[in-house]
Amino acid sequence: MEEWTLKQVQGDVLRFPSAVLFLIAVAKDKGMTDEQLLQLAREAARRAYAPYSNFPVGCAIESTDGEVVTGANMENACYRLGVCAEQSALTAAQHKFGLAKVARIAVAGGSDATVCTPCGGCRQAILEAAQLSGRDVEILCGSGDGSAVERHSISKLIPFGFGPANLD
Ligand code: THU
Repeated sequence: MEEWTLKQVQGDVLRFPSAVLFLIAVAKDKGMTDEQLLQLAREAARRAYAPYSNFPVGCAIESTDGEVVTGANMENACYRLGVCAEQSALTAAQHKFGLAKVARIAVAGGSDATVCTPCGGCRQAILEAAQLSGRDVEILCGSGDGSAVERHSISKLIPFGFGPANLD
């Protein structure tokens, strides 16, 4: 029965070459939707350590090959030592696939409808990856309650920035 089913499928595929192209396209498209990447950022925010600000932030970074890493903010009793979600995720990205493969970033934080955009320091850290990769990295910013999303690019968030390209 199983063999018959397989032959049947092979027959159908041969009769419809466009179906083969569709299957190849699906297999090659390893990327996530914007909503899926944002959802990973929101889930990462749940694992934030933010007892001082009570402002959890999560970040998900997708590579050019479709790999994904996440991070969340991690605060410290010595306040200035706190680490932002984006920098936490960028560290993981460097470790897993390298900054030059950073393709898309999603950030979500807080608890209301205000969209969480990267702070100035995180924009600078994202610029580093963007200039290494030669891409204008896209940044999806979500609100903590999931009701609002904004799409930005690093060139808009930090115009006239100073990065590795300036040191060439
Ligand atoms: N925070 C981030 O993790 N990313 C940002 O881009 C904005 C701010 C964190 C830092 C701190 O733990 C908390 O949010 C409140 O500022």
